[in-house]
Amino acid sequence: MSVKQIQEEILKLKKEQDVLILAHYYQPIEIQEIADHLGGSLGLSRLANKADTDYIIFAGVDFMAETASILNQNKKVLIPNPESCCPMAAYLTADKVKEFRLNNPNLPVVVYVNTTAAVKAESDICCTSANAVDIVKRISSEFKTKTVLFGPDANLADYVEQKSGIKCIKMPEEGNCYVHSQLTIDDMEKIRIAYPNGEILVHPECIREVRELADFVGSTGQMYNRVKNDTTVEKDFCIGTEKGLMERMAQDFPKKNFHLISEKLLCYNMKKNTIELMRYVLEHLDDPMFEVKVPSEIAERALIPIERMLEFS
Ligand code: 13P
Ligand code: SF4
Repeated sequence: MSVKQIQEEILKLKKEQDVLILAHYYQPIEIQEIADHLGGSLGLSRLANKADTDYIIFAGVDFMAETASILNQNKKVLIPNPESCCPMAAYLTADKVKEFRLNNPNLPVVVYVNTTAAVKAESDICCTSANAVDIVKRISSEFKTKTVLFGPDANLADYVEQKSGIKCIKMPEEGNCYVHSQLTIDDMEKIRIAYPNGEILVHPECIREVRELADFVGSTGQMYNRVKNDTTVEKDFCIGTEKGLMERMAQDFPKKNFHLISEKLLCYNMKKNTIELMRYVLEHLDDPMFEVKVPSEIAERALIPIERMLEFS
């Protein structure tokens, strides 16, 4: 059966049931094409917060589905492949957060949404790459301090510190995304030579030396909007984030030219969701294997920093 036929079956199954499909820009393009809504982490959290269907299928990685479940404790949140996880989240545990708090009393704890629900439950506020700078500014003024605890992405912490002037103590020093941290100075120099009039966009999860060679640093949603709002004809955009976003933009903006800075920019975890699994989940909405359910005791505590983030951004 062709991808197109599977997509048609999915759309039919979706119509017959009370389901909302949310998909991240890093999903395989054939999943992006059948989603009700596509977006970056922040946009999808906002949409999950407004969901009014009995079922939400979250095509993304586990922490995204967990966030949707925390925001919708009375709904069924499903993930097509339960093994689709974000390895960055494993850099920070709830016990580590408690230890950092103990050693740094009175400092606010800011955690990236790329964390487990148990870690969120120990934090004061969450952030995404789209709002991290603003969130850190807000929480530091609320706590009347110029230092915050920030984890687990050390590159995002460094970026926020540069942009806000507020010290971000990294929880831990070495947390990173294996996809974005692979981009090198050499990759950046090569792409600049190949497209001297092009614009280079990278994600804040890249290392500082790479970010400093880019023309624009932003979240997936911010990159998308930057390209969308650019009116220059036939422009080259060099993309420094996971390939899925570039595929989305290439479809949405056919008159613009897109180049992936490096073929290494593939998140294997995001790609564990497949179009076949999407159809299977739609045929088995009540199979507990696909359900993402955060225990209520943790969900209630994790909800507070997520809601604070949504309120602030
Ligand atoms: P965004 O928050 O920019 O959508 O990115 C999510 C992510 O997983 C980055 O690697
Ligand atoms: Fe996690 Fe990086 Fe994949 Fe994003 S791209 S889900 S941060 S491993």
